[in-house]
Amino acid sequence: MATKKELRIGLIGTGFMGRTHSNGYNRVPNFFPELEYTPVLKAVCSRNAEKVQAFADQWGYESIETDWKALVARDDIDAVDICTPNDTHAEIAIAAAAEGKMILCEKPLARSLAEGEQMVDAVDKAGVANTVWYNYRRLPAVSLAKQIVASGKLGRIFHYRANFLQDWTINADVPQGGTGTWRMDLEAAGSGVTGDLLAHCIDTAMWINGGITDVSAVTETFVKERMHTLTGKVQPVGIDDACIFHCHFENGSLGLFESTRYARGHKALYTLEINGEHASIRWDLHDLNRLEYFDHSDESIVRGWRSIHVTDGDQPYMDKWWVPGLGIGYEHGFVHQVADFLKSLETGEPCSPTFKDALETQKVCEAVINSAKSRSWQDTGVEWTEK
Ligand SMILES: NC(=O)c1ccc[n+]([C@@H]2O[C@H](COP(=O)([O-])OP(=O)(O)OC[C@H]3O[C@@H](n4cnc5c(N)ncnc54)[C@H](O)[C@@H]3O)[C@@H](O)[C@H]2O)c1
Repeated sequence: MATKKELRIGLIGTGFMGRTHSNGYNRVPNFFPELEYTPVLKAVCSRNAEKVQAFADQWGYESIETDWKALVARDDIDAVDICTPNDTHAEIAIAAAAEGKMILCEKPLARSLAEGEQMVDAVDKAGVANTVWYNYRRLPAVSLAKQIVASGKLGRIFHYRANFLQDWTINADVPQGGTGTWRMDLEAAGSGVTGDLLAHCIDTAMWINGGITDVSAVTETFVKERMHTLTGKVQPVGIDDACIFHCHFENGSLGLFESTRYARGHKALYTLEINGEHASIRWDLHDLNRLEYFDHSDESIVRGWRSIHVTDGDQPYMDKWWVPGLGIGYEHGFVHQVADFLKSLETGEPCSPTFKDALETQKVCEAVINSAKSRSWQDTGVEWTEK
């Protein structure tokens, strides 16, 4: 067997994303054997030594750290993977870039545009490979949606619509801050559903349909005060619990986006729909292997929404998995991102979305929050060049 080049990973954060990424690194050698590079799980870091050791044992990391600064400084790490809450992304990424490490950073890139800009500067100056885990792009049905739109089958695009709905914060007893509920704390998260959930929808939307030029938004915080886990006091809630915005895209189409954690019955429902002159597409995370497609040029007696089961070998990524007709899951988007990052090291092409690409999503998020605050339309300043 030819010897593989090693990409020695240092992963920081052992929660939800720490698990999805570790699974990705472990699966890639089996399902993408043609890649020149192979991930080596060199070290994992989180603050509790006992817990991080258990995580290392479970997922196969060679060593542990309890201080991310020690991990970032290690000579035997090539790439730092940031799976920690949003308030740590900038500090870790800037330190990792200064050590010459490649960086794979969780989304949103940062808490704010200003932080994101510093991160882009840091990786540019260091010249290190970087990517942000907007994983939904790498689900086969979503990738196929992009291919279909790019092929021109929809013709002129009129509408792009996306929702990301949850219901886990309706109870006013859910605290803010600290482990598990850092998303409820403005300081740790940067924003509420805008940065947490809509950022995904915005990334996918611009990837498929081009830049968003201006936005008009409303946000609401339904529960105004919550116990703060770190202070033990009831404090004002600073995040947006719900956000609805509409916008223009550079291509002249209109966008409509909604996200909330107050949609009773919805746990993680991400849906998108695109309406063009000739055809429409829709997708639903709860049925992630399917892409629905309506083509007006079909003969009228059989015209209707087609349900495409995206499991064929000539559809994106599916030649890597089982046989046609057999589906894959949520976790595969992360496996695909690891594979694409390794491939990018082979080809020298950036692995999108890079920090620079993710900064464009950050611009939209910031414009959305500013629009809601000022009750006015806001230009995003997006310069979308990614294809
Ligand atoms: N791509 C996606 O679909 C997706 C989904 C969920 C979360 N995220 C993003 O991933 C990041 C992490 O989210 P999560 O859901 O995994 O959070 P989590 O709360 O499940 O895990 C966070 C982990 O970070 C560790 N941690 C926190 N501060 C640390 C520090 N200073 N040093 C070392 N370790 C520290 C915690 O101990 C924990 O292990 C966030 O930026 C979030 O927005 C992305």
